[in-house]
Amino acid sequence: MSRILVTFGTRPEAIKLAPLIIQLKKEKSVNLTVCTTGQHRHMLDQAMKVFGIKPDFDMNIMIKDQTIEQVISMVLINIGRIFDIVKPDIVVVQGDTTTAFAISMAAFLRKIKIAHVEAGLRSHDKYKPFPEEANRRMISHIADLHFAPTKKAAMNLTNENIDKKTIFVTGNTGVDALIMTAYRRGKAPIEPLHFLDKKKKLILVTAHRRESFGKPLRDICKALKRIVYICPDVEVLYPVHLNPSVKKTVYRIIKGADRIHLIEPLSYEKFVHVMKLSHLILTDSGGIQEEAPSLKKPVLVMREVTEREEGIAAGCSRLVGLDPASIVRNVVALLDNKKLYSKMANVKNPYGDGKASKRIARILKKIASR
Ligand code: UD1
Ligand code: UDP
Repeated sequence: MSRILVTFGTRPEAIKLAPLIIQLKKEKSVNLTVCTTGQHRHMLDQAMKVFGIKPDFDMNIMIKDQTIEQVISMVLINIGRIFDIVKPDIVVVQGDTTTAFAISMAAFLRKIKIAHVEAGLRSHDKYKPFPEEANRRMISHIADLHFAPTKKAAMNLTNENIDKKTIFVTGNTGVDALIMTAYRRGKAPIEPLHFLDKKKKLILVTAHRRESFGKPLRDICKALKRIVYICPDVEVLYPVHLNPSVKKTVYRIIKGADRIHLIEPLSYEKFVHVMKLSHLILTDSGGIQEEAPSLKKPVLVMREVTEREEGIAAGCSRLVGLDPASIVRNVVALLDNKKLYSKMANVKNPYGDGKASKRIARILKKIASR
């Protein structure tokens, strides 16, 4: 039996690896172990609960306001013992977080095969997003299998001289998670958010990128206040990320503003539900850029660069930067221009078809048994 160790630590990694874990559990020839670093706690637990994931190992490393160095050190200190117990043939990492980077580094040092899910995303700017662009570049150069979500991502890898034979274009597993959750049958209905006014257009907001801490995040908050001021028919729902650097700024500037609801992070199920209810989404998140087209929701990306260029090219998302005037202008344009709205909303999702995890599981099973 081949031993596969799937690892993750943050909310988006758990969401995007959940469909793969579910697939791998079905494979009789695979001995699957699930390990979390606990880089996130509450937000990770929320995501694991939705998919019924119970990790075999949980390093539980999160501390308040942790530094990246602390996370890397804690992962490196803990993972060796887990490698000793599990003796994996392949270690699976996802994306570009500190967890993914630290686990890859540890696996490389043990000469254990690394499979990288969501490989090849590039903004081509070392500091944007920070530290994710550097993390994913470094992972690519020590990984053995690269599961690229799109052809563009695969091309980014071949441009960096990664061996073509090790790259597989699979789609993004985040789209699998979205489809599984958005159209799940037989589930109890989601409790409505009673404070939302059904007569208003809902703008859903998230923002948490480290390179936006300080002035850019303050500017985002000012833009939100301006939007509700000049658009009386909208309301904003903003589930605020638990990072204290985000929370403090957002609550200080926005708390008490009319028609802006600041709330705790929502469980993935509830978040998918509010994406469905929303008119448009304003975000700096990577995952949300990939999910929204499947729900026909236009996305305005509050970043200077994005590695998710497929959505921009296809027309379902727009890069609006961090200048408050540009954020406001783009929101107003989308609210006012029905033709533009419909064009952005009706684009086939360029990030996946919901079958990525099946493809990845099939390849992993084959390679692990060699
Ligand atoms: C991390 C990832 C980022 C990803 C984001 C997803 C890195 C460097 N960054 O950023 O790529 O987009 O997760 O959300 O890996 N906290 C809690 N409870 C939680 C989660 C976080 O209190 O459930 C607070 C803690 O004080 C923690 C802080 O947020 O120290 C920062 O968490 P961390 O994982 O270091 O960074 P993120 O900004 O969440
Ligand atoms: N998400 C969630 N609850 C929230 C906000 C987001 O479950 O309150 C989900 C969202 O649907 C997406 C993922 O979390 O699947 C994105 O995570 P995040 O924005 O933290 O990280 P990123 O994608 O930017 O790395």
